Amino acid sequence: MTKILVVNGPNLNLLGRREPEMYGTRTLDDLNDKLEALAKDLRVELMFFQSNSESDIIDFIHREGLEADGMILNPGALSHYSYALRDAVAAVGVDTIEVHLSNIYSREEFRRQSVVAPVCSGHLSGFGFYGYAMALSYFSDLSEGA
Ligand code: DQA
Repeated sequence: MTKILVVNGPNLNLLGRREPEMYGTRTLDDLNDKLEALAKDLRVELMFFQSNSESDIIDFIHREGLEADGMILNPGALSHYSYALRDAVAAVGVDTIEVHLSNIYSREEFRRQSVVAPVCSGHLSGFGFYGYAMALSYFSDLSEGA
């Protein structure tokens, strides 16, 4: 079965309470439940991980990335400066879609660049939870040879 990692970085554990006008009122559990239901329909296996620690995220990618068929990654603020995270994605070579709930290009200047994006095969920004669902559908299509 196709196995996809769903990785959320710093502060995304606070979804639902954190700046709701920006990120909405639904929680990370709501997001994961939604993805799990979609994955069931698509016959895809998901592995969820969230951490506020850059090193724990890198260790997780090292540990699980080699075995996985793809990764949906919202690095949070690490997107904008973590060369270490970028190198981990490149080192493991796991096919990665970078996802952001908000449209990072319409926000503060420092958010408009992702240092992780160049080592990802795609980037979705501004679609809320639906961005994760799109990335999951993409990986499902890919596994069917679409
Ligand atoms: C975010 C955008 C980042 O700039 C921010 O630091 C986050 C959330 C998003 O999903 O829109 O933590 O990754």
